[in-house]
Amino acid sequence: MSATNDPVTNSLLTPAQEAAYSKHGTALVNQLRVFLKTSRLYERDNKNFVHQKDSLYRLLNELLDEYGDLTIQVQSGYLFFCGIRIKTEYDIESNSGYLLYLFQKLHISGLMIDVGVSEEHLVTLAKVLNDAEDAGIADYQRLNQQFAQQRLDYIEVLPPVYETSENMDETRLRRQFAKRTFFSAINNLKSVVGNISANRTIDLTRTNRIVHSLVDQVVSDDRYLLELTALRAHDEYTYLHSTNVCVYSICLGSALQLTKTELANLGFAALFHDIGKTRLPLQILNKPTEFDDAEWELMRKHPTYGVLALAKTMPFDENSCRAMLVAFEHHFNLDGTGYPLVHFRRNLNLYSKIVAICDVFDALTSGRVYRRDPMSPEHVLRNMLEQAGHKFDPLLMKMFIKTVSVYPPGSLLLLDDQSLGLVIARNAHDLFHPIVKVIGNLDHLYEIAEEVDLSRRNEVGEFSRQIVRAVEPQELPVNLSTYVLQSFA
Ligand SMILES: [Fe+2]
Ligand SMILES: [Fe+2]
Repeated sequence: MSATNDPVTNSLLTPAQEAAYSKHGTALVNQLRVFLKTSRLYERDNKNFVHQKDSLYRLLNELLDEYGDLTIQVQSGYLFFCGIRIKTEYDIESNSGYLLYLFQKLHISGLMIDVGVSEEHLVTLAKVLNDAEDAGIADYQRLNQQFAQQRLDYIEVLPPVYETSENMDETRLRRQFAKRTFFSAINNLKSVVGNISANRTIDLTRTNRIVHSLVDQVVSDDRYLLELTALRAHDEYTYLHSTNVCVYSICLGSALQLTKTELANLGFAALFHDIGKTRLPLQILNKPTEFDDAEWELMRKHPTYGVLALAKTMPFDENSCRAMLVAFEHHFNLDGTGYPLVHFRRNLNLYSKIVAICDVFDALTSGRVYRRDPMSPEHVLRNMLEQAGHKFDPLLMKMFIKTVSVYPPGSLLLLDDQSLGLVIARNAHDLFHPIVKVIGNLDHLYEIAEEVDLSRRNEVGEFSRQIVRAVEPQELPVNLSTYVLQSFA
């Protein structure tokens, strides 16, 4: 195989070759990160340092033999190894997340390593990169000069890559694909629910196919589906809610490293968690004001109704039984409170605990169930975190915040220039500074929404725009779904 960044050539790779690139690229990213970290902690004669340097050198030589030269480069928020995208995580603690952060901070797109690189070069490379990170004033030109001064002849720093029509197209295609799957899920759920309400046996082939497609998209990159969960003001809320809970659950399960089969089972159960609500009178479900006691009593029956509805209409297999368990348990709290009332303490199933978190998050941010006014996602997460340990599993809660980020997609933020930013994606390296669309200010909306990365700093190292506070949805006379849908057009 020969290394190339040409997407046309790379599209001719077989799946097995792509898998090899991905495996090798990930190994290189991991070892490079460990080496950079170790070189911060130990002197160059320390045995840990020597061990990590040797490992990196050995790996580089094996890969150089195979590929000729090696590139690790970031483009459109993803890491590429020799032009092939590799799994990229958005957590700075992870190896790939750290490299994304580092390249962004140094204002470069990556590194190219050639045959001839020596162990001495690696030691110098670590020093130059770590010093540049600490100084915080690096850019491509300066680093290029330093590489030349330090005689790093076989390692090249790569200039920043700006969005081209090619990689923009890929983003658009992924967005459209996510949107299609998401709305297929909603429509399919509608027809399945229709059959369940009529007590007809249901065919779940299409549902399973859609859930698998959601799983595949989350595993490869959950960004676009998470963006879609911001569609909170959709007309057919119950279907949207169930689909959102399904997407969140798969994302959280994926962060917990569940297998694809487990993720599909979890997604399936999440999709049907509220199915018991189809047995409640519509005037309760659509009631615009708070429930009275009698209505609450009825509402608390929906988990039991859910089990009955699923038992009546679904094939009696493991998947359906797990869905029944989740439907029954999703309103139980960790401390034994919650509903429906049972006379013995239960050890909750992992899937039920996952769905419970995703359910409350979506319900409170949409303001359509349990509480009539929507709250900002940031506000909801803060409240939920306070209840971790009593109501929610604390570890799962932390993972959930990492998954949706501190400011999840759909959050509205007031910025220090009085403009309003709608969060569209979390940031690779910084959960506190997401990517937003500046949609207007508190008085009016702009025609064209500019995309701004709030983690960008100016020449003196300060954030170009600061977040003042999260804006509650009811402060605005706008329908945010319009904006979300526009970006998926
Ligand atoms: Fe529920
Ligand atoms: Fe729910």
